Amino acid sequence: MVLTNQTDFPQKESEFDLKAYLAQRKALVETALDDYLPVKAPETIYEAMRYSLLAGGKRLRPILCLASCELIGGTVEMAMPTACALEMVHTMSLIHDDLPAMDNDDYRRGKLTNHKVYGEDIAILAGDGLLVYAFEAIATYTENVPAPRVLAAIARLARAFGAEGVVGGQVVDLQSEGRSDISEETLHFIHTHKTGALLEACVVCGAMLGGATEAQLQHLSRYAQNIGLAFQIIDDILDITKTQEELGKTAGKDLQAQKATYPSIWGLEESYHQAQQLVRDAKAELAEFGTPAIPLIAIADFITTRSN
Ligand code: IPE
Ligand code: IPE
Ligand code: MG
Ligand code: MG
Ligand code: MG
Repeated sequence: MVLTNQTDFPQKESEFDLKAYLAQRKALVETALDDYLPVKAPETIYEAMRYSLLAGGKRLRPILCLASCELIGGTVEMAMPTACALEMVHTMSLIHDDLPAMDNDDYRRGKLTNHKVYGEDIAILAGDGLLVYAFEAIATYTENVPAPRVLAAIARLARAFGAEGVVGGQVVDLQSEGRSDISEETLHFIHTHKTGALLEACVVCGAMLGGATEAQLQHLSRYAQNIGLAFQIIDDILDITKTQEELGKTAGKDLQAQKATYPSIWGLEESYHQAQQLVRDAKAELAEFGTPAIPLIAIADFITTRSN
């Protein structure tokens, strides 16, 4: 099933095969990531960047970006450089998140973490390399999109990742470690920033590249904020309920590191209910888009049903 234009959209939710859709999109993203980042000299840094970037992962962020661009009437090709850039920035955040100075984790995406293989110095630089290359890739490889839309997407991605977004969320996450007095507001801030901000940018950038109206962007933004928060709540739950083999990363780490998580404040069951409600709210934002929104509806459901 190759979905590249509006006429290919499924007509009914029941006819939509999410598993096949995700597998097909993931394959497109894997090929593009591999093409964008060949090994050059000095080889060590390119190998370290590729080690984490091409280590698998669900590729949810690029898939969301492609899906929202198509929803608006754009094509996969228009959004692919930005989709890959989002995955590069996300991978950078994982490499740095795993460093001893941060979460100190040994496994990621079913493999040893970047610093375990290449050392902390190279892991920091591999993150730096991926972060800036992401922006180079958007600016260099985006085709058939009016320049103002590309500029808007670049600015949106930068804002989502900076101190106003992921970086700010990671700071408060680290400052909250080991404390038993973290408020619901602070926890909400951590999750909407360290995770929600980038997921929102994925959907919004895809839609911007496709030429969305302001009203469409607002609906999609709220859709993404809801699935973004739900995504991190489920990540917290999976950290408790799944094994390292199932997750591809160390399980049970949040409790051990005394992280501020939804289950630590609300308990497992209530956290899960909250995530389900967020997914319902997310889907409600898509009502006006009709059947072309079926992939984004199915992806919202996947957030709470996923097992890793
Ligand atoms: C992990 O993200 C980090 C969080 C924001 C919770 P993913 O669960 O999307 O990790 P990959 O990309 O599939 O490895
Ligand atoms: C990470 O949150 C969010 C970012 C990497 C920005 P976590 O620290 O919970 O992610 P995992 O569990 O290590 O994937
Ligand atoms: Mg972390
Ligand atoms: Mg972590
Ligand atoms: Mg986690």
